[in-house]
This record gives sequence, C-alpha cells and structure tokens, in this order.
Amino acid sequence: MSSANATLRIQDQEITLPLIVGSEGECAIDIRHLRDQTGTISYDDGYGNTGSCQSTITFIDGDRGILRYRGYPIEQLAEHSNFLEVAYLLIHGELPPPSHLRRFRQLVLGNAAIQQSMLHHFSGFPNNSHPMAMLSAMVNSLGCFYPQLASNDRSRELAQFEEAACILISKVRTLAAMSYRMKRDKPFIHPKTNVSYCSNFLHMMFSEPYADYVAREEVDRALNLILLLHADHEQNCSTSTVRMVASGGANLFASTAAGICALWGPAHGGANQAVLEMLQTIHDDGDDGTKFIEAAKSGDKQKRLMGFGHRVYKNYDPRAKILKKQCEDVLDALGLNDPLLDIALRLEEAALREDYFLSRKLYPNVDFYSGIIMRAIGIPVDMFTVMFAIGRMPGWLAHWKELAQAKSPIHRPRQIYTGHPARDFVPVENRPDP
Ligand code: ACO
Repeated sequence: MSSANATLRIQDQEITLPLIVGSEGECAIDIRHLRDQTGTISYDDGYGNTGSCQSTITFIDGDRGILRYRGYPIEQLAEHSNFLEVAYLLIHGELPPPSHLRRFRQLVLGNAAIQQSMLHHFSGFPNNSHPMAMLSAMVNSLGCFYPQLASNDRSRELAQFEEAACILISKVRTLAAMSYRMKRDKPFIHPKTNVSYCSNFLHMMFSEPYADYVAREEVDRALNLILLLHADHEQNCSTSTVRMVASGGANLFASTAAGICALWGPAHGGANQAVLEMLQTIHDDGDDGTKFIEAAKSGDKQKRLMGFGHRVYKNYDPRAKILKKQCEDVLDALGLNDPLLDIALRLEEAALREDYFLSRKLYPNVDFYSGIIMRAIGIPVDMFTVMFAIGRMPGWLAHWKELAQAKSPIHRPRQIYTGHPARDFVPVENRPDP
C-alpha cells in the first residue's frame, strides 16, 4: 500500500485517485470511487489492463520472463519440488512442514476413488463426448455427493476447505482418467493406494484388468513437472472465471467446474492441442518449417505459429524453457526419436532469427513443448486440455480461498451501452414482415 496519488482531469474537473503499489512495485490507480466522483467508468475491453483483485499467490513479470508461486521462483520449484507439494504451497501460502505434507498426501490419496453411484453417470454420456464436457459436469456434480462441503455457507466451507480441496485435487484426476476410458469403451480402473499422484493417474489411464501399467520414474517426473508448471498463472481467463463465480457465493465444486469450462477454449487451455496439430501438419506436408514461418509472418490470425507469443510474457516463457529441457530428457530416457520435436526445435531456432518475431517479442510459450512430452508418455491429443485442468486445480482452489477469506464483493463489471435508445413496443400484428 502507498500514500501516493494520481490526478485525473476530465474536462474541467480534476480529481485525486489513490495509487496501490504491490510488493514487487506494480502500481495501480484505484478507480473504485471514480463513478461516484465523476459519473464516469473506466473502459477496458477484455480486462487487459485491469487489476481485478489484490493477490498474494502468484507473481509474473512478463517483460523479464519471471514466474513465482508464493515468492518461490518456478525454476526452483520445478527442480526441487513436486505437484502435490506445490498444490499445498499454493493453497496454504507456505511450504508444508513434513507432518502437514504427509497428512495432505494422505487426504489426496484417500479421496481418489469415485462413489459407485457416480460411476453410473458416465453411462449417460454418448461416447463421442468431449472429455472436457464430461470433466466439468462431473466436477460440478461432486457437490451433490458432498452436500456438507457445498453448502454455499462461506464460513462452514472455509472451515472444511482442506478436505474439499483434497477431494477436488484427487478426484479431478480420477474423473479425467475415467473420461478417457469411457470414450474408448474400456472398463474403469480403480485407483491404487500405494503409488504417487501421477503414477496413480497413469495407472487409471493405461492399466488393463489383465495387465498393470507401471509408470517409469522419468514418466512420473515429466508428468509431475507439466502439472506443477500449470498449477497457477494469476488472473488468467479460467482463474478469473473461478473468482467471478465464487464472488456470487458459489461453492468450490461449482466454481472450479466453471473454471474447467473457461479453460476449454482454444485461446486458453486448448492451445496445446493446436501446437501438436500444427507440428503434425508441417511434418505431413514435408515442410522443414520454413513455409510455415513465412505464412505466420503474414499477420493472418489463422496462420499463427501456435505455441508462440503470450498476452503477458514479452520474453521467453520461463515454463517453456523448463519444458524444452524436459522434453529432450524424457524422449532420451524413453529411447524415442520424435520427428515433431526436431520440427519444433527448428521452428524455434528459425523464428528467433526473424525480425518479425523478435520485434513483436514473440517467444515460445508453455504450450510449445508440453504436447510433445504428453505424446511421448502416451496421452492422446484430446486429453491435453484435461491435463491442463488437472494441473490448474490447485491454483483455482487457492484463488477461491483467497477471495472467500477476503470477503470480496460480488464481481459486477459495468458496460458502455451502445444499443438502441428507448423506443416503444410494437404489437406483432403491426410489425412489417420482411
Ligand atoms: N504467430 C505469428 N504472429 C503472431 C503470433 C503468432 N503466434 N502471436 C502474435 N502475433 C503477432 C500479431 O499478428 C500482431 O502483429 P501486428 O502487430 O503486426 O498486428 C502482434 O504479434 C501482436 O499480437 P497480439 O494478438 O496483439 O498479441 P497478444 O499478446 O494479444 O496475443 C496470443 C497473445 C493470443 C497468445 C498470441 O500470441 C497467439 O495467438 N499465439 C498463438 C496461440 C498460442 O500459443 N496460445 C497459447 C498462449 S499460452 C496459454 O494460454 C497457456
């Protein structure tokens, strides 16, 4: 907080507005009373320059390519931590002492199974359903199975928050694996009680009643890293959606189901799928990437280099740097030689020599290499956005909790109305038929 002010002149009226300064020096003009003082509102289509809250969870400096969860650099967390520990960190604000981490793990592990009656829901979905549609519906329906945790009574929900959070972190993964198997007419595989979070997910995806899938350590590690790197990214579209829905008082299950719906779009969580499809097209066309880069420079939105550029990062996305290395490591460990990785490396090298990309500060983002890793570990393209949802769950939970604790008011943006002025109703018999 700061005592500094900004002065705004609107025609002949001058008003003073307070400045809010964050712990990393980010500065905002507090316009909450602008309308009372001047009758005007601020206009910011898409909220690209609007701070919607004050948050202690994640810091991003897009110009310098910095990402920190609760103050810890993403590079350190990627190297020394794992997804569940990072989930605890995001939700509780501090790294867990050993006994807390054990209890947290136990709660997640103990909540992996799905109630029998919930299993029946799956038989109602046609098997060409998109896994994101199934996942959002099933996460929302969890509220019916845990009414005591979904009471829409904030103080009760906050008192039981950790239990609800662990149910969601655990079951989102089980439901994701079930949606994968349901689409393929495969029987559901029950979770194990003695394997890690990621290995359990891979077991529920790939084991068969007659043969257990046992994840290799490198595969477990790679998946951990992907989930950890997606765990939060401050006020992105899906997280803002979770906060928006929660601001009306909705419970955790309903709010995070809304986050899954928001994530589904190709401009948000769906971009990782677009990257892999692009690499595959380049490969199938026998292009070495040169033609694709030339086309991307045309400015045509349909021809963009997918996995390049970011609304916030105007530098190399730090997550992409980590995943590029992981991508090479995991392919090496599995003895795979994926031609799509060669194309991705060539594309990056070529693009970063081009003034078009450099002058616009377009660098690889998190989606550029994550798809190749997921493909290497056997996750099909239609599950990519689902993987993102599993990873982002702790971030959504942390933001729900932060908003609930801050007793944030209901989110209700204003608008500039540009429709018809007032006009009189015309009865149907008096309306001309075109
Ligand atoms: N390929 C070619 N040109 C691009 C690309 C790209 N990937 N991205 C931006 N540009 C160009 C634009 O044409 C524009 O050029 P101009 O100034 O000549 O008009 C300029 O760069 C700025 O583009 P904007 O769309 O204004 O940039 P913005 O920061 O708003 O967009 C976005 C960011 C949407 C991510 C964009 O870079 C893009 O479409 N990238 C490809 C899709 C993608 O990878 N999305 C995943 C993002 S990460 C995530 O959501 C997890």
